[in-house]
Amino acid sequence: MMTATPIPRSSIATARLRLRPTSAADAERAFEIQNDWTVTRMLSNAAYPPHQKDVEDWFSDHAHEWADGTAYRFAIEQGERMIGVVDVDGIAGGAGSLGYWLERPAWGKGYAFEAAQALVSFAFHEIGLSSLESGHASDNPASGRVLTKLGFTPIGNRELVSKARRETIVQCCYLLRR
Ligand SMILES: CC(C)(COP(=O)(O)OP(=O)(O)OC[C@H]1O[C@@H](n2cnc3c(N)ncnc32)[C@H](O)[C@@H]1OP(=O)(O)O)[C@@H](O)C(=O)NCCC(=O)NCCS
Repeated sequence: MMTATPIPRSSIATARLRLRPTSAADAERAFEIQNDWTVTRMLSNAAYPPHQKDVEDWFSDHAHEWADGTAYRFAIEQGERMIGVVDVDGIAGGAGSLGYWLERPAWGKGYAFEAAQALVSFAFHEIGLSSLESGHASDNPASGRVLTKLGFTPIGNRELVSKARRETIVQCCYLLRR
């Protein structure tokens, strides 16, 4: 999908973080973060252990996705350190999907909420989406808390196959309208 006016690849500053459009060079750090089972087991479509080439290929595609208007992905930086990723992907028909993941040492400080809040604003005001969906594994209440604090409404559960866990899990689904 081409947006009418391309969105500049600019960083977003929050109170404590910088959200910087991802580049191929972020693959190595992301690979390190996804090597932690406690992180990757919660992601719906990531392999564990992660495959370096797959992570590199994924990051190499981010600039094209941005240019096509299908996904906008940001490295979350705290000081000089990349601590995770927050993104809106699957963009079609005015809707998109919000995702986020942080390295374990960065958990419990409100960073996911802070980064995701900025992305929600970006999604509605810069991309111009009218709705966002998201979801979390039923055993990931911290992510559910992030979503409800952002104003997302639970819309039901569904089963999906977790690539990392190699089993069917229950995903709790959410929706937020602009
Ligand atoms: C889920 C994740 C993003 C949360 O990041 P975070 O920066 O720790 O989240 P925040 O600090 O912004 O908010 C977490 C909220 O969950 C709450 N929480 C934490 N653990 C909880 C638990 N076991 N049960 C209920 N609530 C919990 C916190 O108290 C906080 O709520 P509060 O602000 O009302 O106190 C992070 O744990 C992570 O990256 N996990 C691995 C990847 C992942 O799960 N990504 C999301 C996939 S859906």
